[in-house]
Amino acid sequence: MVNEEAVSSVSRRKVLQAVGASTSAGVMFAAMGSVGLAPTASAQPGRESWNPPGRSDFNLSGRSAKKVVVVGGGPAGLATAYELRKAGYRVTVLEARHRVGGRTLTIRGGDSETDVDGVKQTARFDRGIYMNAGAGRIAQWMVTMDYLRELGVPYEVFTNANADAYLYNEKSGATPGNPIRYRTAKADVFGYTSELLNYATDQGALDAKLTAEDKENLRGFLKSFGALQADGSYTGGDNRGFSTYPRAWNEHGTHLPGPGSASEVLASKVGLYFSFENNWEQAMLMFQPVGGMDTTYQYLVNAIGKQNVLLESPVTGVQNTPNGVKVTYQPKYGRAKMIEADFAVVAAPAGLMRKWDTNWGTEIDSALGEFAIGAPAGKIGLQYKSRWWEDDHRIFGGITETDMDLAHIWHPSYGYGARKGLMVGYYNTGTNARTYADLSPRQREARAVAQGEKIFGSRYRTELETSFSIAWHKVPHIEGAWAYPNPESAGFKKLQTGIGNTYFAGDWMSEVSAWQHGAFWSARYAVQALHARVMK
Ligand code: FAD
Ligand code: PHE
Repeated sequence: MVNEEAVSSVSRRKVLQAVGASTSAGVMFAAMGSVGLAPTASAQPGRESWNPPGRSDFNLSGRSAKKVVVVGGGPAGLATAYELRKAGYRVTVLEARHRVGGRTLTIRGGDSETDVDGVKQTARFDRGIYMNAGAGRIAQWMVTMDYLRELGVPYEVFTNANADAYLYNEKSGATPGNPIRYRTAKADVFGYTSELLNYATDQGALDAKLTAEDKENLRGFLKSFGALQADGSYTGGDNRGFSTYPRAWNEHGTHLPGPGSASEVLASKVGLYFSFENNWEQAMLMFQPVGGMDTTYQYLVNAIGKQNVLLESPVTGVQNTPNGVKVTYQPKYGRAKMIEADFAVVAAPAGLMRKWDTNWGTEIDSALGEFAIGAPAGKIGLQYKSRWWEDDHRIFGGITETDMDLAHIWHPSYGYGARKGLMVGYYNTGTNARTYADLSPRQREARAVAQGEKIFGSRYRTELETSFSIAWHKVPHIEGAWAYPNPESAGFKKLQTGIGNTYFAGDWMSEVSAWQHGAFWSARYAVQALHARVMK
């Protein structure tokens, strides 16, 4: 069994990016066209290719449509079933949990979850209030957007970065009791780094690298970027924000106190948060489905046909046979059942599949074993009786970053103008997530509130009505936030070709793991490979 410490370097980098601790621009997009499955004329290494199977493929060739069992009703499984159905395949989706969507879980009032330790929570959120407990944001370039558009799912902007959200660093001693707004932090960090680079330029320190003209261009950029004075110094200014913004007549606004010295600003380490919003996966604009991330999967189920999606039907075995597959599952009531089909596409978490009764062989088993299970990530949804972060702090969406173990606080990107609202009071990974996961739901709430109060003051506690928290490594049938492939591994390449009549899908089959995008592309490639076989 592989543990979470054995995750690939790609994954480590991503987790660092997740907590805003890395300045890396991110990993290169994978050479996804080079999966070696059913290459088409348009498929070139490093290029995405997708030739969806069509109904006409069967009509024109006189072949009969095949039957496929899809294991897992998360994004990968449902997209697989959807693409196959569109082409006329007969599909059955077997989902272990009581609802589809997998890690795109949206929690609304009345929803219950019982974790692997038997701890049950029921959400008491008001109507119209929801928490995206797993997936929350979608970048414009992601194929997820194509599915929203194709299915007609309404979507809206998700605010991933907000100049008025706070940065709060107590470990560096920077901002305890006095959180700093992003705009202020940026003005100071950009200002002083610009001043220093301008100074180095003037001193001739860059002469080996730059021509006179380059230096002039650089100075021009730095003056604008860092809001420098004519003499090249940074002295603060309007971009830091105001304690009273300018109004009319003789109210010119009151600047915030500061800035501190360059040394103080560097020591605060607030600049380490900035790279996040340049990240290839995280840069604005980002989007979310209206009403919750799982909306997409309700639409997908409708398109697949509700009768073709069986809930509370955990699969326990997948056997390849000479002409197809036998898939065994345990319905909620009664005895285990078995379905025979031409093919299976298995889209459950890799590590959990190893517990099934299969005849896939040791190579596949060890390839599946390369994926970590149990990687922790957690969130809490805090429902408030007022939208005090908008009223008192003028923060309408975005993320407040901290160096406390709650890590990230999400201000909601929906419900503006409503009386109540829901903040995500922590979103954390790794050790921080474990710290919260090990507490009872009430203790998690208490810890989150005690930390959030340091930034936002007493209303963080007094306005709170109810909460719901999730620890992903404790969610039955999922048991981990995400796992990443090692693109160089022979085992991973083996999984791409499937085994016998079984194909594999899941975000863990993509370097864009931890994103629905990766799950959707893995589904497309599995469908494409399967269909090419059928058409041979
Ligand atoms: P899953 O969603 O895990 O679905 C697998 C399904 O298989 C589950 O429904 C499970 O119950 C089922 N299953 C397991 N065992 C069996 C069995 N034996 N029989 C039958 N069914 C079984 N993505 C984004 O796009 N944007 C984000 O902002 C984002 N944020 C995230 C934040 C968190 C905290 C987490 C945890 C995930 C986030 N993701 C995000 C990732 C996204 O949720 C996943 O990439 C996506 O859900 C993966 O889809 P999947 O189908 O591969 O797997
Ligand atoms: N996709 C998830 C999110 O956006 C997890 C993740 C975070 C993945 C950061 C990569 C980088 O929250």
